[in-house]
Amino acid sequence: MIVVFLGPPGAGKGTQAKKLSDYFEWRHLSTGDLLRNEVKNKTELGLLANEFMRKGDLVPDSIIINMISNILENQNSGIVLDGFPRTIDQAKSLRLSLEEISKKIDKVLFLDVEESNITSRLSQRGRKDDDPEVILNRLRTYGELTQPLISFYQKEGLIEKIDGNGTEENVFNNLLKVVA
Ligand code: AP5
Ligand code: MG
Repeated sequence: MIVVFLGPPGAGKGTQAKKLSDYFEWRHLSTGDLLRNEVKNKTELGLLANEFMRKGDLVPDSIIINMISNILENQNSGIVLDGFPRTIDQAKSLRLSLEEISKKIDKVLFLDVEESNITSRLSQRGRKDDDPEVILNRLRTYGELTQPLISFYQKEGLIEKIDGNGTEENVFNNLLKVVA
């Protein structure tokens, strides 16, 4: 089973992806977490990625695709993708990588959350990129580059829209109904 979480920053992708992968014992693959780990370890990739992340811009597709394709090839259990794909080019590249290993996406879970909830969640958390100006840019970037994926995947009949405004438990129960 391969599921993709789609949604704006602060929608709860990471929170719900962890719950879902714990529940089914699937692999949780978060490009944001992978990148933050590279930044923490001050690797070459991390130093480069940080120039984009601290401003709330997307890291270039080529870097992300390279980083993720090795992991996908060697993954046999279920996978929960969190924060990837995030552009149409990433989605096309994901499709090709999966085709090569005779797999495909089963569902795209779109977490729909009101903008007022997003800003209050992110301002309470205080990650490095949760500064108000950076949040604004992340939201803008989401609208420009990531939101088009909703219709991209709608055409493939993969989108499941989930109300992400409730409590973590409420949202998870809604998710389970769709995934199980
Ligand atoms: P990434 O780490 O993916 O950040 P993001 O998309 O901005 O989303 P967040 O992680 O902030 O939010 P989330 O939806 O995971 O919500 P969460 O569960 O944390 O990416 C960071 C950066 O890395 C990007 O800006 C980009 O530079 C780069 N990057 C990553 N992937 C990339 C890619 N594929 N291509 C290019 N660049 C890439 O929840 C948020 C907060 O709300 C938490 O504090 C949580 O506790 C709380 N919360 C969650 N659910 C609820 C609830 N139901 N009720 C109340 N509070 C809740
Ligand atoms: Mg996240």
